[in-house]
Amino acid sequence: MKTSIFFALCILFSMSSWSQDTKVPQIGSKAPSFTALSTNGTIHFPKDYGRSWKILFSHPKDFTPVCSSEILELAYDQKDFDELNTKLVVMSTDVLSLHFSWKTALESLDYKGRPPVKINFPIVADTSYAISRAYGMIHNSESTTHNIRGVYFIDPDNRIRSIMFYPNEVGRNVEEIKRTLIALQTNYADNKIVTPANWEKGDDVLIPVISQVERENLNHPGSIYKEVAWFMVFMQKK
Ligand code: BEZ
Repeated sequence: MKTSIFFALCILFSMSSWSQDTKVPQIGSKAPSFTALSTNGTIHFPKDYGRSWKILFSHPKDFTPVCSSEILELAYDQKDFDELNTKLVVMSTDVLSLHFSWKTALESLDYKGRPPVKINFPIVADTSYAISRAYGMIHNSESTTHNIRGVYFIDPDNRIRSIMFYPNEVGRNVEEIKRTLIALQTNYADNKIVTPANWEKGDDVLIPVISQVERENLNHPGSIYKEVAWFMVFMQKK
């Protein structure tokens, strides 16, 4: 009897520690580092990825339909992420052996008329919840044991530049993830440039509210400025 009360208390204690510390890191803050087992061996994040961009994806659960579709879409777009100098890291709180079986199952599928695809990015096992806690991936009102669907964009200086959360019921949009990544990279290359709503690669960008003289000093020779209002100036890059 005493033993079962002890174990019940231990379980309650560990569950309450999952439910704590779900603080989401701030945009602009350093990406929390971690060492963990993955389907590609032990990874030291973000150190192993040097000055690449990194996107960390948290998943609720292996062998679930929405998560499976997301992993496949990421794998099919691996080349695009390579071209964007971006490393993908996927994680969930499930165990490594389950990650391996899920990966093998996914790699054998014909998905939406496309041939089977290799999953080259690591799937990390966060069984201790250390990563989930550090990144605020457990949202108690959704689940106290499984991660929310999170996307963390991390720049070459290892700062978190954007965070997206999706509910369990809605799969992430990989095109929107790439669009956001390209917009972030555009701003990283020149922090005077920001991107408007619905911006796509190649579209005009926005520049800060500045005088004509300052505009000439922005160092975009030959660029065309289009003033919608004094507080909204587009720039067509040459
Ligand atoms: C899914 O990925 O399909 C899923 C995950 C957690 C809860 C519900 C659905």
